[in-house]
Amino acid sequence: MSAPSQPAISLPGFLFKPPQRIVDLGCGPGNSTAVLESRYPKAELVGMDSSPDMIRKAQSTLPHLDFTVEDLESYSPNSRVIKRLMETQPSGGVFAFQVPDNLDQPSHVSMRETAKNGPWAAKLETIGRDSFQSPREIYDALKPISSRVDVFHTSYYHALENHEAIVEWVKGTGLRPYLDPLDPQEKEAFLEDYLRRLKDAYPACVDGRVLLPYPRLFVVAVKN
Ligand SMILES: C[S@@+](CC[C@H](N)C(=O)[O-])C[C@H]1O[C@@H](n2cnc3c(N)ncnc32)[C@H](O)[C@@H]1O
Repeated sequence: MSAPSQPAISLPGFLFKPPQRIVDLGCGPGNSTAVLESRYPKAELVGMDSSPDMIRKAQSTLPHLDFTVEDLESYSPNSRVIKRLMETQPSGGVFAFQVPDNLDQPSHVSMRETAKNGPWAAKLETIGRDSFQSPREIYDALKPISSRVDVFHTSYYHALENHEAIVEWVKGTGLRPYLDPLDPQEKEAFLEDYLRRLKDAYPACVDGRVLLPYPRLFVVAVKN
């Protein structure tokens, strides 16, 4: 994550009014925090992330801002994270977030297919992420304490150089839990099989590049 991602640039565009105080939840190395700072230079801005490494990077890039290592989950062990975070808002406060919604994309379906159909199947049996809450679940969680809840999807289409670039794209995130338990030989065979599936699923474009659709779920809600 060396440059701000497009979703981090898009999300602030959906806030209803310039915020006075912003908490960048899951700020990573501070890319999104820097976007927020340049967009809202007058706002009080802090960043938090569960990864100490990310916070170290963010703090060294933006030494004038406050960053803390915290886990969103531990904010609310017994209730839904989203509702709990909304409850921390003052009346009229805006809670905005965006998350990847790509578990049904061929990039992720292919991972599961590769995992199920190789000699590593038993090792990888329990791997796989739960899907994020549905738009209705999110709406139902937020609406009782919000005056307005907007839920929408945006698909970003990334024109990547080739299919190998898709593998690199997901290696640090969705693919990692599948690769971690494998030994080097299995890893190589797994990646080969996965790449073959990607080539079937994503036909090349006119210039040889591969268009990777990346759907994201956006939520913007105002506390009542
Ligand atoms: C894809 S990065 C996004 C970074 C940055 N917001 C951006 O847009 O460039 C997601 C970040 O969320 C953090 N994260 C994941 N789960 C978290 C949790 N439960 N609590 C806090 N941060 C979390 C990760 O450490 C990672 O830095």
